Amino acid sequence: MTLTLTYSNPSLKGTIQVPGDKSISHRAIMFGSVAKGTTTVEGFLLGDDCLSTISCFRKLGVEINLDGDKVTIVSGGEAQWQEPSEVLDTGNSGTTTRLMLGLLAGTGFHSVMAGDASIAKRPMKRIINPLRLMGADIRGRQDGQFTPLAVQGTRLQAIDYTLPVASAQVKSAILLAALKAEGTTVIKEPVPTRDHTEIMLEHFGASIKRHDGTIELQGGQQLAAAHVSVPGDISSAAFMIGAALITKGSEVKLANVGCNPTRTGILDVVKAMGADVGIDLREETGEMPADLVIRSSSLTATEIGGSLIPRLIDEIPLIALVATQAKGQTVIKDAEELRVKETDRIAAVVAELSKMGADITATEDGMIINGPTPLRGADMMTYGDHRLGMMAAVAALIADGPVTIDDPDCISVSFPNFVEEMNSLI
Ligand code: S3P
Repeated sequence: MTLTLTYSNPSLKGTIQVPGDKSISHRAIMFGSVAKGTTTVEGFLLGDDCLSTISCFRKLGVEINLDGDKVTIVSGGEAQWQEPSEVLDTGNSGTTTRLMLGLLAGTGFHSVMAGDASIAKRPMKRIINPLRLMGADIRGRQDGQFTPLAVQGTRLQAIDYTLPVASAQVKSAILLAALKAEGTTVIKEPVPTRDHTEIMLEHFGASIKRHDGTIELQGGQQLAAAHVSVPGDISSAAFMIGAALITKGSEVKLANVGCNPTRTGILDVVKAMGADVGIDLREETGEMPADLVIRSSSLTATEIGGSLIPRLIDEIPLIALVATQAKGQTVIKDAEELRVKETDRIAAVVAELSKMGADITATEDGMIINGPTPLRGADMMTYGDHRLGMMAAVAALIADGPVTIDDPDCISVSFPNFVEEMNSLI
């Protein structure tokens, strides 16, 4: 079913509690399943991706109960997991597929993972290469590059590994495998990526050493069940931030958003563009939840690249849209990872914003946007990608005609009811 959005110069006002952080929600289910005992989670993201993670762990015999955004995980620990008699369906979720590979590699059983058509195209060798160095037995199409993937659990050894791509998913899969491996695993990260796994390892009682881009984790540590409070997802908040910035006369408060510095590139970028952003930290450690206040702002272009990219990788579709309303030339570079996200986000963002009249050009590793340009109504495609869906919905706020979104349902991967929440601010 398509969705058509028509607005006439709306102002956005009010407070939104954005849904729980997707990365942290996945990890809470995984760590709660590995740990022995009863783990409780509050603020869990009830998005399709995190529900896929729950369904996979249920198939391993872990008891997981949902009550609104509260989750209880009752596990006898990883040693009690059962060999699944069905394929583990990871849906649209790269995080589920990749992090679970690290966990399944060290079990004593066989399992098979597969997801949707988008997952079947996403590269898995980046995970399987280091896991194979640890002794993992994983098979898949093109020597393990693509799902479905069959994992024969086996004994693992620690490795000393330098990440060839800046990817928290690769780092996390190795760390999860390292928990079961013999010896101390050392991971060197040339560019920092989101550190939710490291934070949660400590929260569940593991001892982990971190210094100058190096992480050390000794194998054989048993995690202890814990309580996890999931803050709002800054990647979801980003779309509300963008919506408030580009509409006139807006003031939006976003409550309890995770502002872990490995994720706040979006705030640095919009502030550099001249955005009026208030940040009131609720906690100064861990995932650093904060209340944000965003007001309409007149924006100027900026340059985005280097070590900033992993800190805002999922926000680039939204940043590209915001840049169409900024004065001057915005250049986004070093973002070739966008080509292997839920869809090729460089090609998709450029194609879709161009339809609306944006002055935007694709480059190998990013895009160049000249602004400001008025946006017109158009028929927008999501390519089944939630972030493309939200980009189109936010763009509709300032379009001079109706914007039709071909597959609005895909937005529920990370932000169920996004359009309703945005409309509640008008
Ligand atoms: C994620 C890491 C990032 C991000 C993804 C979630 C995670 O992917 O784009 O949405 O939860 O670890 P990469 O590790 O591929 O950069």
